[in-house]
Amino acid sequence: MKLQGKAALITGAGAGIGRAIALLFGAEGASVLIAELNEESGRAVAREIEDAGGRARFLPTDTAREDDVKSAIAATVDAWGRLDILVNNAGIGGAAYTWDQVIAVNLSGVYYGCLHGLQTMREQGGVIVNMASMAGLVGFTVAGLPEVFGSAPGNAYIAAKHGVLGLTKQFALAGAPEVRVNCICPGWIETALTQPLTQAQPLLDWALQGTPMGRLGQPEEIAKAALFLAGDDSSFMTGAPLVVDGGWTAR
Ligand SMILES: NC(=O)c1ccc[n+]([C@@H]2O[C@H](COP(=O)([O-])OP(=O)(O)OC[C@H]3O[C@@H](n4cnc5c(N)ncnc54)[C@H](O)[C@@H]3O)[C@@H](O)[C@H]2O)c1
Repeated sequence: MKLQGKAALITGAGAGIGRAIALLFGAEGASVLIAELNEESGRAVAREIEDAGGRARFLPTDTAREDDVKSAIAATVDAWGRLDILVNNAGIGGAAYTWDQVIAVNLSGVYYGCLHGLQTMREQGGVIVNMASMAGLVGFTVAGLPEVFGSAPGNAYIAAKHGVLGLTKQFALAGAPEVRVNCICPGWIETALTQPLTQAQPLLDWALQGTPMGRLGQPEEIAKAALFLAGDDSSFMTGAPLVVDGGWTAR
């Protein structure tokens, strides 16, 4: 078990990538605080971890609210006496959101986590993993479909994810050597977030043609990258993006 005795806080862990991370960390021996907006899914994932013999709690959390993020950190410390691992994973995207909403969750939420997480971890040490994206490394154009990435929420998503890389570097400098801060840049992963993509054939074709691996990634493939960054196997790594995109940014 790679995370035995560790206390981990994972935001947005009720579904998709966050859920896969929570289940893997629970199976690897970590005590897991699920900080999630959706009460039903958040509770369900905590129960899944417990049913598998692990330790988990759920706290309703909106990471766009600084006080909620502080409460989630405090709840982790209350429950297990420490915070060793913080995964700032919660994120939104798509046409239903405004510029402000996307920035609030995908950028400000990560900032609140880094800021208060680092303060809590500084003395005993710890690890922060931010969920960026390949959209934090490059821009996107979809031929004939400017409403997808040329829109306000699309632009906000690109801006926020580039910002997450900036926060990762900045907080890595602030946290070294006690606290390591890295981020993951996933490519197209099959979750609720990418459902509009998988339901529109031209979009799916575009995503698959641009992905040299020729398929969508699975949440579990990102969870394994998170485990690497959260554990001692990445002990000399800080301030860095780990790209898990099936080759999208290699083109
Ligand atoms: N799926 C992909 O292709 C992909 C690619 C690159 C990066 N990402 C990033 O990975 C992260 C997870 O995405 P996903 O695909 O698993 O999405 P998802 O929609 O499947 O799951 C996101 C979870 O976060 C929760 N959430 C949303 N806003 C929240 C908030 N303000 N506070 C707390 N919880 C909140 C949702 O309720 C949901 O349970 C996001 O940051 C996303 O930008 C995803």
